[in-house]
Amino acid sequence: MTDFENIFKTGFRTNLCGVINKDYSEKEVVLCGWVSKRRDHGKLIFTDLRDFSGIIQIVFNPLFNEESYEIAKELRNEYVIQVKGIVKKRTQDTINKDINTGEVEIFAKELKILNKAKTPPFMLDNREQIDELTRLKYRYIDLRTSEMQKNLRFKSEIMHITRNYLSSHGFVEIETPILAKSTPEGARDFLVPSRLNPNKFYALPQSPQLFKQILMFSGFDRIYQLARCFRDEDLRADRQPEFTQIDLEMTFVKQEDVMLLIEGLIKDIFNKALNTEIKLPIEKITWFDAISNYGSDKPDLRFDLKVNDISEVFKDSEIKIFKETLINGGVIKCIKIDNAHLLSRKDLDDIFIMAKDNGAGGLLWIKIDENLQMQSPIAKFLTENEKEKLVKNLNLQANNLVLIISDKFINACNALGIIRNHLGEKLNLINKDEYKFLWVYDFPLFEFDEKENRYKSVHHPFTMPDSKTISYLDSDPLKVNSISYDIVLNGTEIGGGSIRINDLKLQTKIFKILKIDLEKAKDNFGFFLNAMEYGTPPHGGIALGLDRLVMLLGKLKSIREVIAFPKTQSAIDMMTQSPANVSEEQLKELYIKTIKYEE
Ligand code: AMO
Repeated sequence: MTDFENIFKTGFRTNLCGVINKDYSEKEVVLCGWVSKRRDHGKLIFTDLRDFSGIIQIVFNPLFNEESYEIAKELRNEYVIQVKGIVKKRTQDTINKDINTGEVEIFAKELKILNKAKTPPFMLDNREQIDELTRLKYRYIDLRTSEMQKNLRFKSEIMHITRNYLSSHGFVEIETPILAKSTPEGARDFLVPSRLNPNKFYALPQSPQLFKQILMFSGFDRIYQLARCFRDEDLRADRQPEFTQIDLEMTFVKQEDVMLLIEGLIKDIFNKALNTEIKLPIEKITWFDAISNYGSDKPDLRFDLKVNDISEVFKDSEIKIFKETLINGGVIKCIKIDNAHLLSRKDLDDIFIMAKDNGAGGLLWIKIDENLQMQSPIAKFLTENEKEKLVKNLNLQANNLVLIISDKFINACNALGIIRNHLGEKLNLINKDEYKFLWVYDFPLFEFDEKENRYKSVHHPFTMPDSKTISYLDSDPLKVNSISYDIVLNGTEIGGGSIRINDLKLQTKIFKILKIDLEKAKDNFGFFLNAMEYGTPPHGGIALGLDRLVMLLGKLKSIREVIAFPKTQSAIDMMTQSPANVSEEQLKELYIKTIKYEE
């Protein structure tokens, strides 16, 4: 018996179901688990017995043991049973190659029903066919499936590897409050009323950002946490209102130190959880190059399909849209598709709609026909010189298609980035087996929010400006970059971090630019600003979205596949039916009155 099996030996059982093979022949074992299938052949009853390690076939034969055969007649799917029996080799023609234990079966000597079960709402072996809401409602059944067992055990392994890795790199695991305080500038907070402090609220942490920084002020040097985070934002396939971050902070570090540490962790995870090597170092690209060349700050580099800048080609163009764009400081950008015939008229219509829906004024196309002639609504307005330059610039050949957006830099890039991702899927350009990591760095410190008419932090207000561009803080804040970095896997952001501001004067200035009222700032996080006045070391950190990372490493299609009890798209826990109403008394104790909700 291996150490692994030995661990599971208890007063109820001698072995696990899924590990028994022909080496156990003629041995007596006691097994426990759930009935996963039952076949009554009249003179013999067969059941598959399942525990987390796998399944094994049990044979109830009245000639072998009359009593257990009689009890076995009662068995139904999902009954919990204990079986004592002898391991027997199967005959050659009854070997089942699909399961680990397929060469043996157990001849039952004793059977005890430990617990009966109602007929389950769905069978465990056709999970994919079951509507997800039903699976979430009966999550306790869904979690019995081999898929969910595998997913959550995989996540647990990654958590274990992470803890070991960080601990062996000098990190201390320190917890921080869940009943915390509203942090500035993030997503919407979840609020918790305080009974002992009427009319006051805690906020559930969106991340332990300020606490982990304060632990650096307090001299812990390196801390980490598998931190539960809460954000009241719209949900998507890779977002949950509560999720877990591998959250860490380090003192006296530069950007490269944090990157190297994370690369080591990823290498460890690949080695130990996926049994593969990952090529290091991870490629790095500046935010500007990512946006400019791929139309995204989290580009999927499993395929090429670059976004090209063809402003230069049209710098003297008489075409109105090009001319106006360039005068107004915009750009003309495009994507070249090699095999135009792979896209139907309908595909092109979809792409036009996609461009408009994603902020572009419109989209133009030029097709190169077999005679190397340009076909396009603007063909007759193109000069020979422009045509020549375009062919040279994009290396155009027969059957190429150029999709052009002429707009503000960011609008053109964003829309083409979304079209690029769409084409990656549509034209089958993505190798789905690949894991392509990427560091994106040198983000702008601020972006301008037109709606609120003010600057906002691209990461968060505690991010250090880059010394090369900090001189623009007063004159042109949008020109200031930050020392921040995101890590991207296959086109999804799996983590982000930065070097932090460790100077109160600079921090106050950033708040001013963000138009965060100083009085309000003091009220919200005065504690943090006070703490900064007592010796704040240079420090930085990062947080990886654990659930997202596991989802992508496991090649799973939704974050809900790696969370035991996730919420639906409308933030409901189907199993517990939360959120739910609470009693008048509870509200009264909290000094809360609700206003009737009307749609
Ligand atoms: P950020 O907000 O970028 O950074 O979050 C870090 C990572 O957390 C994951 N993530 C989510 N995962 C699931 N559901 C969500 N709703 C969700 N929101 C974020 C993403 C993301 O990359 N305090 C900073 C980190 C730091 O600066 O150290 C922070 O929280 O994978």
